[in-house]
Amino acid sequence: MQKSELIFDGNEKQIFATDDSTKVIISYNDVTLAFNSIKRAVFKGKGVLDNHISAALMGELNRNGVKTHFIEEVGDNEQLCYKVELIPLILCVRNRIAGSLSTLLGVEEGMKPVNTIYDLRLNNTRKADPLINDHHAVALGIVSYQELQGMYAVAEKVNDILKPFLAKAGIELVDIKLEFGRKVDTGEIIISDEISPDTCRFWDIKTGNILDKDRFRKDLSDVVASYKEVYDRVSKIREA
Ligand code: C5P
Repeated sequence: MQKSELIFDGNEKQIFATDDSTKVIISYNDVTLAFNSIKRAVFKGKGVLDNHISAALMGELNRNGVKTHFIEEVGDNEQLCYKVELIPLILCVRNRIAGSLSTLLGVEEGMKPVNTIYDLRLNNTRKADPLINDHHAVALGIVSYQELQGMYAVAEKVNDILKPFLAKAGIELVDIKLEFGRKVDTGEIIISDEISPDTCRFWDIKTGNILDKDRFRKDLSDVVASYKEVYDRVSKIREA
């Protein structure tokens, strides 16, 4: 696969065209952003780990019949993916209440609800990714009700696959952020973006230790070491 021109230059990733108009190469770098891009840092080695972890988790989804944009890793920090038109929505699945939701609901971080929580946001950093509902998303012409139903069903399946998969690695999937896109050739809606410690909350099942981007948000040490811990544990269960 021949890598050609840069088509998207984001803070945390670059996207390159390839000689196949339906595929792109996504390159992960070491930049980390939080709080709507207000907080920024560079962690050497993070991009490679995000690439490997996202590849492993999206690969697990692909193998279990959930369609994602991920095809294969083509370098230490690069992966070949299907080209999509991103749907500007963020769908979070939460097994525990943490982060922005604990602030919104005024409950202590870590509370385990009786249900699985799904929340929908508009993917718009300038507006701080506002929480919206299904009717807003349809009113804005972003998706149809039927498409949204399909996205919620896929999100449930993702959680049902990754929760036990990560548990085998001693990692609790506290929450996960999903983004979807439409394949440029068929229009089919598939999982896009990334699934990594940058986009999920991962807690050590035994100790409750934070193994994700909250280490950066909360100014805790060992950000890269924690991502490496996730990668090593996931690799081990994949080899087993
Ligand atoms: O901060 P909040 O609790 O809303 O985040 C829920 C999950 O979604 C966390 O795992 C967080 O890392 C992820 N997230 C993300 N990108 C955003 C917002 C949240 O990856 N723009």
